[in-house]
Amino acid sequence: QTGAFTYDPGFTSTASCESGLTYIDGDQGILLHRGYPIDQLAEKSSFMEVCYLLLNGELPKKDELDKFTYTITRHTMLHEQLATFYRGFRRDAHPMAVMCGVVGALSAFYHDSTDITDPHQRMVASHRLIAKMPTIAAMAYKYSVGQPFLYPDNSLSYSGNFLRMTFGVPAEPYQVDPVVEAAMDKIFILHADHEQNASTSTVRLAGSSGANPFACIAAGIACLWGPAHGGANEAALNMLREIGRPEKIPEYIARAKDKNDPFRLMGFGHRVYKNYDPRAKVMQKTANEVLEKLGVTDPIFDVARELEQIALKDDYFVEKKLYPNVDFYSGVILSAIGFPTSMFTALFALARTVGWVAQWNEMISDPEQKIGRPRQLYTGPSQRDYVPLDQR
Ligand code: SDX
Repeated sequence: QTGAFTYDPGFTSTASCESGLTYIDGDQGILLHRGYPIDQLAEKSSFMEVCYLLLNGELPKKDELDKFTYTITRHTMLHEQLATFYRGFRRDAHPMAVMCGVVGALSAFYHDSTDITDPHQRMVASHRLIAKMPTIAAMAYKYSVGQPFLYPDNSLSYSGNFLRMTFGVPAEPYQVDPVVEAAMDKIFILHADHEQNASTSTVRLAGSSGANPFACIAAGIACLWGPAHGGANEAALNMLREIGRPEKIPEYIARAKDKNDPFRLMGFGHRVYKNYDPRAKVMQKTANEVLEKLGVTDPIFDVARELEQIALKDDYFVEKKLYPNVDFYSGVILSAIGFPTSMFTALFALARTVGWVAQWNEMISDPEQKIGRPRQLYTGPSQRDYVPLDQR
């Protein structure tokens, strides 16, 4: 017995690892972080609280949260020389290409937090990554639109600081909109961690070799970029825009069901959830709230809700247990806030960094952990002798 759950030895024989961070029941549509349901965390806590919870195992008391938040905000600035690093990219470089490059380069600037055998250095690296990702992502956006970088303003909240660095300009004061700030924080919470998904498994595998934490997170960013994974939020909004209006939904539903058509309903289906992704429910509610409070009417949101209703009644999706996932509605909110679709996956990476570093720390601090070595089923030719070139 581990806590309230029966520990099924049969399951561990196929599991890639043991972890106490996040629990998912794909059939029931349950997602818990250290035992707390995602909908309660999204509605009642802050992203800083969830970061503390994932890293330390318990919700923080007020003084613990204040100390943790102070620590994170003191790491938000980026080494000034890294700003020149951005100038090596083309202006139209995808923000995820920039994130991969800049995060991978961090170990060249923060040598004093790359010794993975030192628990203090591991935690400093974790705090640095959580703190600097908003700065790195905002700078990627600023560079893409040809605007000057803004330094962090540590008097603001984590999400407020990020919004100001992204949408503020030196020429005028920036007022953080509390509606947008709260939505941003909730979106970060919904993306914080998700058990052993592809990018987290990438971070763990890279970390198992002893690679420094910055390189491991860069590997996770690269994996998350794929349209089947974190890239789905960008693909889902592009798909909704391509559909354009409710009358065209049946055509795309038919394409998604056609085995000869590679088209997939982006933001639908999941490797684990065979029920509604609990994050998608919160995301849809948040989309409603944000559009209403911002007075934004986006026909894309109507298309999304209509598409969901039709798909959930369609035999193909019902039989294959395909439901909206976290990526289906997130783009509607991010677009309403003002982010270009190219930034959506960068925001996913920003939020997932806490999950990646928490999972990495959990693995690295296990004295029994060994280098990962997935096995294969060999399907090639049996042994044979070399044939000289003139006899082939
Ligand atoms: C994330 O793992 C995580 O936890 C990831 C994540 C996280 O937080 O880290 O939750 C984030 O990556 C969410 C998923 C985002 N991706 C998308 O929305 C892309 C669109 N969805 C798919 O491409 C797909 O659903 C996957 C990749 C997510 C899962 O693919 P699988 O493993 O093939 O899904 P499945 O086994 O449940 O599929 C069952 C059937 C298959 O058809 P058959 O082979 O049985 O004939 O349903 C089909 C699939 O081809 N199918 C779809 C579909 N998803 C699956 N058909 C149409 N549209 C879809 N979206």
